[in-house]
Amino acid sequence: MTTMEKPELYSDLARQLTALLAGEADLVANAANTAALLYHGLPDVNWAGFYFRNGAELVLGPFQGKPACVRIPIGKGVCGTAAARGTAVLVPDVHNFPGHIACDPESCSELVVPLIENDCVLGVLDLDSPLPARFDEVDRQGCEQLVALFLDQYRQHSNHHRLRNFDYRAWNRR
Ligand code: SME
Repeated sequence: MTTMEKPELYSDLARQLTALLAGEADLVANAANTAALLYHGLPDVNWAGFYFRNGAELVLGPFQGKPACVRIPIGKGVCGTAAARGTAVLVPDVHNFPGHIACDPESCSELVVPLIENDCVLGVLDLDSPLPARFDEVDRQGCEQLVALFLDQYRQHSNHHRLRNFDYRAWNRR
């Protein structure tokens, strides 16, 4: 894929993601469809998915690809580093990244974009590729735009998230 084609691909993915998320409040459903869109829409990607922050850890969320490491301490690995810095991390060769956490031995390069809301890291979007240096600045910007669409949806529906406490006593009193 030439660099010229990538911006168009990301514009197309942004259109598709907007349609997929439209009107849906559920965070897990939206994360699952975002992961599936990226896994199938981007060439040479062997893992695409989310980790969500829980305390000082990132916990595996919806993804496509091989089963992955469930908990990553903030500050560890590529994902934990992106969460600690609050900025995207592009790794051309994961074997040269100290502390990289290997989930699929085929993964060679990686792009992690943090999900930031009100100066807090909610989690990260993680993409892996079996090719060296698969991701560049165009991918970073494209994925940051897709994450922004995902977060817009999160913000609009922040009162409805299933991860909020369900007050079963109030529900039974209806
Ligand atoms: N390689 C990541 C771990 C997650 S998997 O790639 C899905 C890391 O070093 O944080």
